[in-house]
Amino acid sequence: MTKKIRIALISGGISTEREVSLKGGDEAAKALDPGRYEVRRYDPKTDVPRLVAEAGGIDAALLILHGPYGEDGRIQGLLDLLGIPYQGSGVLGSAVAMDKEAAKLLYRSHGIPTPDFVCLCRGGDGRGRLSEAGKRLGFPLVVKPVAGGSSVGTSLVDDSRGLEKAVELAFESDCRVLLEEYFTGVEITGPVMGNERLETLPLVEIVPADGSRFFDYEAKYKDARTREICPARVSEETAKRAGELAVAAHRALYCRGYSRTDMIVSEKKGITVLETNTIPGMTPQSLLPKAAAAAGMSFSALLDRLIALCLEDARKHPRPAAG
Ligand SMILES: Nc1ncnc2c1ncn2[C@@H]1O[C@H](COP(=O)(O)OP(=O)(O)O)[C@@H](O)[C@H]1O
Ligand SMILES: [Mg+2]
Repeated sequence: MTKKIRIALISGGISTEREVSLKGGDEAAKALDPGRYEVRRYDPKTDVPRLVAEAGGIDAALLILHGPYGEDGRIQGLLDLLGIPYQGSGVLGSAVAMDKEAAKLLYRSHGIPTPDFVCLCRGGDGRGRLSEAGKRLGFPLVVKPVAGGSSVGTSLVDDSRGLEKAVELAFESDCRVLLEEYFTGVEITGPVMGNERLETLPLVEIVPADGSRFFDYEAKYKDARTREICPARVSEETAKRAGELAVAAHRALYCRGYSRTDMIVSEKKGITVLETNTIPGMTPQSLLPKAAAAAGMSFSALLDRLIALCLEDARKHPRPAAG
């Protein structure tokens, strides 16, 4: 009998996406094959000392964490120090992908289309900057925290009157806020997976309920009328281009293992890239598992693949021996 792989399943954490993360952790715990894995669970909110103490008995970590302190490189840095390999992006990729301004600057420098934007810092910019940004980007525009997730603190603003309130709301989640040109079109998300050789999974199309113009937190997790269609109903040419952009975004942001890039397909302006998620949602109903299912890969098989990619990468890039 081969030895079981000892997995630290890490979920929970302290971001606004804690509940989603715990749910993903529960689903992953159910789906991991007990014949192959020995699973121990950790919640960064309470269990960091135990994780450090038990590090020597862990072969790999499966991170089901979203948002700051989970998806942004901090926990990845801790795991690097402890010598525990984990699925997905390392410190750099996680940090730049979580920071929507840094990510957009990297997209731009790689010729990846992304909506025009202005970034504001709390306390640093006056009202003048706000109205200037409104004029430059035009209305409607989108206001979002730089390091957010699940649309928390994100608003669609129709005119200058609503701008200040939306910016205040976004500042509740982060000290930097993005104002972004609004793109109408078909919202899609493109997962990629692999180490050196990246493959794309089928695109998922997100259709918010009638009348809703963007995919907010309610629509994401609570509104049963939101539809997710896989493969997305776009032309073959658009699907090909979106897949190329998802791969380009993954590489531009120094991602590793897998990622899922959110995009909007506009009839007039083509495809624009909104953001890249380094730890996409991980319940069987989430977008990446849906795309995997459409490609014939069950939720359990998806977890197997992510763990295999992580162990393969760790073998190729061993960590320097400690002291
Ligand atoms: N520039 C934009 N134009 C149109 N819709 C947007 C734009 N930015 C965000 N949205 C909407 O808001 C949602 C959340 O934005 P996103 O940038 O993906 O951040 P996150 O998913 O991390 O909250 C998107 O799924 C999309 O529906
Ligand atoms: Mg998103």
